[in-house]
Amino acid sequence: MTDSEILSRLGKAAESGIKRDDLLREAVSLLKQARKYYNWIGIYLLDGDFLTLNNFVGRPTEHTRISIGSGVCGAAVADRENKVIQDVGLLDNYLACSLETESEIVVLIRRGEAIFGQIDIDSDVKNAFTPADEALLGHIAEILSTRF
Ligand code: SME
Repeated sequence: MTDSEILSRLGKAAESGIKRDDLLREAVSLLKQARKYYNWIGIYLLDGDFLTLNNFVGRPTEHTRISIGSGVCGAAVADRENKVIQDVGLLDNYLACSLETESEIVVLIRRGEAIFGQIDIDSDVKNAFTPADEALLGHIAEILSTRF
């Protein structure tokens, strides 16, 4: 599936008036179908000082609630920036979701200064994520941000 097909399908779902959680579920499910090297896909929502796992596809994780600053996910919120980690084995501040994970990307769902949550993706291969992935996920995050 091309990036524009993914975005058009998600855009149509957003316009159809489905509930926010259903739209988040649709986003993770579309990404799982569209990109084989996205092994775990989740959306965390910001709830006070914590990120809470809302929807995911892939192996169950024990990290369903992450404090701001912890791991790659919490650091993205603390630093107010997306994170692309090409080799998670090199990180000290890392919360392992699975022993298979080699690389990870976190893209914030935000509007201006306000951060609502993030899209978090793990891959079982190193160096999985390119600027094209960050751009695609940024567009998806923008569509999702309209629901907050
Ligand atoms: N690796 C993340 C935790 C989430 S799991 O990958 C599902 C982190 O370091 O914050």
